[in-house]
Amino acid sequence: MAEISLKKVVKSYGRTPVVHGIDLEIADNEFVVLVGPSGCGKSTTLRMIAGLEDISDGEIRIRGRLVNDLPPRKRNISMVFQNYALYPHMSVRDNLGFGLKIAGQSRSVVAERVAEAAGILGLSDLLDRLPAELSGGQRQRVAMGRAIVRHPDAFLFDEPLSNLDAKLRGQMRAEIKKLHQKVASTIVYVTHDQIEAMTLADRIVVMRDGHIDQVGTPMEVFNHPVNTFVAAFIGSPPMNQLPAVVDAGRLRLEDGTTIAVPERLRARVRAGQKLILGVRPDDISPEGYGLMEDGESDRVDLLVDIAEPLGMESLIYSRLAGQEVQAKLYGPRLVAPGERLTCRISLSRAHLFDAGTGRNLEAE
Ligand SMILES: Nc1ncnc2c1ncn2[C@@H]1O[C@H](COP(=O)(O)OP(=O)(O)OP(=O)(O)O)[C@@H](O)[C@H]1O
Ligand SMILES: [Mg+2]
Repeated sequence: MAEISLKKVVKSYGRTPVVHGIDLEIADNEFVVLVGPSGCGKSTTLRMIAGLEDISDGEIRIRGRLVNDLPPRKRNISMVFQNYALYPHMSVRDNLGFGLKIAGQSRSVVAERVAEAAGILGLSDLLDRLPAELSGGQRQRVAMGRAIVRHPDAFLFDEPLSNLDAKLRGQMRAEIKKLHQKVASTIVYVTHDQIEAMTLADRIVVMRDGHIDQVGTPMEVFNHPVNTFVAAFIGSPPMNQLPAVVDAGRLRLEDGTTIAVPERLRARVRAGQKLILGVRPDDISPEGYGLMEDGESDRVDLLVDIAEPLGMESLIYSRLAGQEVQAKLYGPRLVAPGERLTCRISLSRAHLFDAGTGRNLEAE
């Protein structure tokens, strides 16, 4: 039985629907990340699970129990927000224990749970400090600790790291992952950062305009995006997408350059069909400087605009068929603006999307 189940869940504000009947089954102890651009309905979905927003239609179940009309405090779920507010005049210890205290828990239970959460989060030496005496990351840990002490059935996180600087975000990302391993628990985590999604999730839910486009493990979503939207959203730098027409059994780009149709896709295309060829920067590299050189490939010439040397690799911004294409060079070789590079393009890792619908030809 799924721990959290959403069936045809709709949310409308007045007459405007913002979540259009989504279905999602979240398993016990699963770490699920909702990603998507601003305004796609991530927070609204999370708040409906928490009970902070009522649902306009559909069903939400937690541990099999219908919770549509259950108030938040009866759902046994803890939520951690982006703008966590700690009580400034209370010590870390009291911030952690406050919720339990007002819920009527005995002193000994409060002390025990606070000690446990502080241990898990590495706050044991900071219990007597005030929030003003903590770093940003430590404060964020206290905010998480307040969720942990309640022993909830599930944790909901809404962009908990977006107020932190990049370095701290990376550290906290690792801590949240460890937390999930230490405290076996179901987590639903909202972010618009696809790196957080890739690194944290057991499964990623990619949302767009109040719909779910794809649900899958990070590798499934990365390697088999169902459409051009998911392909562009997951992966950094994003997948190159080149308009092409099927002509004489090859893909003809807008300037007449042709590229072979990947073998596994030959039976799926027809002459004249308008497609989008999707290739990640990692899968186009100067000959002899690629990571993915085995498997089926073809040759293309790229005209270099600029190159960014990153140490052991360079990111190349170039042109192909009048369009910007990003490619990767692995190795110490430097390239110069204006240089014409003969590259291998991996066909075994390339995708074809329908130009009209954006759907991956291989998506069922
Ligand atoms: N109280 C409200 N009244 C009317 N519309 C709302 C309300 N709250 C949210 N919306 C709309 O619902 C849609 C989804 O909002 P939501 O906050 O869920 O987006 P999000 O995916 O969390 O975005 P972000 O990444 O910016 O936080 C948006 O178009 C938003 O304008
Ligand atoms: Mg939001």
